[in-house]
Amino acid sequence: MKSSNPLKRMIKPLVSPAVYDFWVRKLVSNAAWETPLATVVERHVEARDSVTLLLRPNGHFDGFIPGQHVNVTIAVEGIRHTRSYSLTDVPRKDGLLSITVKRVGGGKVSTELCQHARVGDVLELGQAFGELTAPADYQGNWLFLAAGSGITPIISLIRSLSLSTLKQNVTLLYWARTRADLCFFQELRELSAREPRFHLHFVLTREHEMLPNDLQGRPSLALFEQLVSDMTEQRAYACGPAGFVDNVRELIAERVGFFASEAFTPVTTNVVDLGKVTVTLQRSQQQVEVATDKPLLAALEDVGVTPASGCRMGICNTCACEKTAGVSEDLLTGEMDTDVNSALRICVSAARSDLTLDL
Ligand SMILES: Cc1cc2nc3c(=O)[nH]c(=O)nc-3n(C[C@H](O)[C@H](O)[C@H](O)COP(=O)(O)OP(=O)(O)OC[C@H]3O[C@@H](n4cnc5c(N)ncnc54)[C@H](O)[C@@H]3O)c2cc1C
Ligand code: FES
Repeated sequence: MKSSNPLKRMIKPLVSPAVYDFWVRKLVSNAAWETPLATVVERHVEARDSVTLLLRPNGHFDGFIPGQHVNVTIAVEGIRHTRSYSLTDVPRKDGLLSITVKRVGGGKVSTELCQHARVGDVLELGQAFGELTAPADYQGNWLFLAAGSGITPIISLIRSLSLSTLKQNVTLLYWARTRADLCFFQELRELSAREPRFHLHFVLTREHEMLPNDLQGRPSLALFEQLVSDMTEQRAYACGPAGFVDNVRELIAERVGFFASEAFTPVTTNVVDLGKVTVTLQRSQQQVEVATDKPLLAALEDVGVTPASGCRMGICNTCACEKTAGVSEDLLTGEMDTDVNSALRICVSAARSDLTLDL
């Protein structure tokens, strides 16, 4: 990449962009050479165990569409980890971004971001990606179904609708354990009080003190039919843990006009254990013995190899690497892959024989 900055042009023969970016981050500034970085400029508690971080990205961030997410990389105990987080706001004039992170028990990145991220910290960002977006010219009804942290892309989509001039109905069903776990609670309540076409339903699964409008229970056809007048005229978006999304898809995907979904939890398929296999890592010239009862990415991490990764769910392609020998299983489809020189997403593939990877 040709640099327009005279200082960068002058020092480029002396220092690589990666080394420059490393030291810039050490010095807590987001003026990196080519890496999108973001400085935390505000932090507030959004709900129990959930924190919203307002971020100022540097000039290398290319922008986003509501409903998309970014990969965030941070160091936890000296080891870099990458996870995906949805951008919860709409694109703002001041360029600031926000993410809302819910702490997962035992989770490395969510715990670090929720408990230790402070104003002034610098995070590494990837570019925005993701297909859970909305067409600008759509004039029909919207049905949003969110569970837990799955509210994050949904709130961005809701914020992007011109709600003050709404001509269509917007229905949000939002599942959480208790009222204290609901993110954006006040904003959503105010919106539903102000806007008659915005229909808000909180579904609380473990709340002891239910209010008159609170609902209970898992997603069911009876519930949807009770709350949504004409299913066939809905453009539906669902987001949350994989079990929730699968359940909702089974119930309504065939009944609504349009259905899109995104799951936030990693692959949990029961992977058959074939014992250990040898993985040869061509580029780093090493061989490791890895487990076959989990995705290759997790199996490699268990033995100290940390390939680039992002969503850990087969969405972002960050972990894709070339397989030059061996058999792997695609854990999303159950298909065996015997091809050589094929691109393998190691976060959703398990080893089925000794393998050689371009890592
Ligand atoms: C496209 C996409 C967008 C996302 N957007 C958001 C967002 O806006 N806000 C947000 O809080 N999270 C979001 N997530 C989830 C996020 O990327 C991480 O998976 C989550 O923060 C846990 O990471 P961790 O490092 O703390 O846990 P890890 O250390 O990776 O895992 C610890 C344990 O928790 C389990 N686990 C991992 N992820 C989850 C999860 N999401 N729910 C329940 N258990 C889990 C693991 O199986 C493991 O047992 C998104 C995920 C994807 C794929
Ligand atoms: S980490 Fe995103 S596809 Fe594997």
